[in-house]
Amino acid sequence: MVAARAPAKVNLRLAVGERGDDGYHPLATVFQAVALWETVVATRRDDGEVTVAMDVQPTIQVAEGAVPLDETNLAVRAARAVAERYGVTAGVDLRIVKGVPVAGGMAGGSADAAAALVATSEVWATSATRSELAELAADLGSDVPFALHGHTAIGRGRGDELAPALARGEFHWVFATRAEGLSTAAVYAEFDRAVDAGERLVAAPILDDDLMMGLRAGDATLVGASLANDLAPAALALAPELSRTLDVAREAGALGAMVSGSGPTVAALGRSRQHALAIAAAISAADVADAVLVASGPASGAAVVAVEEA
Ligand code: C5P
Repeated sequence: MVAARAPAKVNLRLAVGERGDDGYHPLATVFQAVALWETVVATRRDDGEVTVAMDVQPTIQVAEGAVPLDETNLAVRAARAVAERYGVTAGVDLRIVKGVPVAGGMAGGSADAAAALVATSEVWATSATRSELAELAADLGSDVPFALHGHTAIGRGRGDELAPALARGEFHWVFATRAEGLSTAAVYAEFDRAVDAGERLVAAPILDDDLMMGLRAGDATLVGASLANDLAPAALALAPELSRTLDVAREAGALGAMVSGSGPTVAALGRSRQHALAIAAAISAADVADAVLVASGPASGAAVVAVEEA
């Protein structure tokens, strides 16, 4: 068996342009990988079957049926993509160990896909290169290439065209999660509705110099002040209770707080790990989240973490 893990992400800046003819929105985003992990354990089978099962780490809650355990599962789709690309006739049993909130705007499903690409390509000894896996990743979902890449990176296009970003130091994040997720497609649809109704103006997506300077200098105060997410109004329209969570994080002295990706997770940046734990405690005490996680970034991309000969 081979176990691989891939990180969750937070978008430090998510600039969203107008929906294109392909139904996708052009993005300019800065991703940071954080040390919350999805692990995929791949065990080779001699027949061509691909099966999937899931365990959930005690730090998160997953609603019954929230993750499909069938052919639509992103880890299964990743395994199928590897098999097809490399002419693999063997099969695989996949076990996902979830540590990233589901439908939380942290790309947990994308991390499953990235970890499954790495684990299956190793268990089937495909000799795939990293850049070949990155090509397969983009077809599986917009955030899958970043889950493979990790660290801090600029994303353009659908978020899948990556360039590494210079970042110094360690950032201490708090993630306030909700048991009930938001669908990424639904949040983009609400974004489009507001644009079509003239409630919101859209421009070509660009990145903020202050954020890039803050990252290069390892200046958490500047990074915190530069956090911004164009999807936040849409996520708040669908889940208005998130504004209380943002308020509590800011009252607890967070350097910045925002909706993570398409939400409903709220991400807040602390000055130190100690401060992040204090913000987490304030959010828990105010009862404005279902679970609170603390994690540092940047974290590395998808990688093999264990190999056991059968
Ligand atoms: O690529 P992925 O499957 O992760 O995207 C999920 C949904 O999010 C898409 O079906 C689309 O509605 C929306 N999306 C978008 N623009 C992007 C990325 C995703 O509209 N750049």
